Amino acid sequence: MFSQRIEGLRPSPIRSILEVIDRPGMISFAGGLPATATLPEWSGSVPPSVLQYGPTEGEPDLREAVSRHLIDLGVDAPVERVMILSGSQQGIDLVAKLLVDPGTVTALEDPTYLAALQVFRFYGAQFVDVAERAATPARLAYVVPTFGNPTGACMSDADRDRLAQRCLREDTVLFEDDPYRDLVYEPCDRTPIAARMTDGSWIYQGSFSKTFAPGLRLGFIAASRDLFDKLVMIKQATDLHTSRLSQHIVLDALTDPGWAARLNRLADFYRERRDTFDAALAREFGDVATWETPKGGLFFWLRLSPRVDTRPLLATAIERGVAFMPGEEFSPSRPELGTMRLNFSHARADDAERGLAVLRQVMFAQF
Ligand SMILES: Cc1ncc(COP(=O)(O)O)c(C=O)c1O
Repeated sequence: MFSQRIEGLRPSPIRSILEVIDRPGMISFAGGLPATATLPEWSGSVPPSVLQYGPTEGEPDLREAVSRHLIDLGVDAPVERVMILSGSQQGIDLVAKLLVDPGTVTALEDPTYLAALQVFRFYGAQFVDVAERAATPARLAYVVPTFGNPTGACMSDADRDRLAQRCLREDTVLFEDDPYRDLVYEPCDRTPIAARMTDGSWIYQGSFSKTFAPGLRLGFIAASRDLFDKLVMIKQATDLHTSRLSQHIVLDALTDPGWAARLNRLADFYRERRDTFDAALAREFGDVATWETPKGGLFFWLRLSPRVDTRPLLATAIERGVAFMPGEEFSPSRPELGTMRLNFSHARADDAERGLAVLRQVMFAQF
């Protein structure tokens, strides 16, 4: 199941030592730890311990909070199988290191998250469409089923069941990437696919980038028993552990009684932005594009008619002060021409209106 590079993977003896050095009274001659007294003073309420090295898996209290959240969602993720990541992008890299050799059959949605494609390509994955029957069962199926990037689509309960059953039947590792699940504007099926995979091999990850602050680089991953310890070893070899300061800040926010209210406010704020954007799209692109209003997440996915390849038009759009993502870039193999991913969360209403008018001119200047 694992990539060839995993054969040489060994746990580091330092790791087990770092786990115990925080204990009161412990004298450590291990590890290259700076003297605590030399660490900078912080103006905020930051305990000095967060400036010291910490465990690879992450801060126990934060892992505990994430584990509780995942168990509530039905995912079999006890605290021992939750690890904090330096952004969920790191999870994609760790999983690819664990499972992907050159030629490894990897099932993906088409289109899918661009930076996941970048990672899987880097490790030599051979892509197949998760919606199609492949001759060789995939070793890994990577999906963003809830308000996916780039399409904003949300997979139905029936499709989630079908994918879980297929992974179980074909011995495929399910890798569910779920950074948008809390940005929900209309009711829709969101039960993780990983919750249906208790007897199989699965990886589930989430992020605090969209609900809190991307600059803190904080995400989390949980996995089935057969995979988790190896992911920890690979993370250790990658960056030892995630920033303890970031973990401290996020734990504070997550355990604050106001966290749930914050998520509700976010959803209200973005729902309004989405609706304003939708109305502006209807004005500017109503006669030349189709789209579905996303029920969550951060993106509109447009199909243009006529089918102009949007890639060569990006430079002109940027010259005119408008950036967008050509949809063709999100395809693992055969891009559907004439697609665009438009983020609606960032631009203010008046900028969105102006930007869309410019885009419309750029796209269809030749018609
Ligand atoms: C589907 C998906 N996965 C992962 C990430 C990476 O997020 P993070 O900031 O947690 O690394 C993103 C960011 O946009 C994303 O869209």
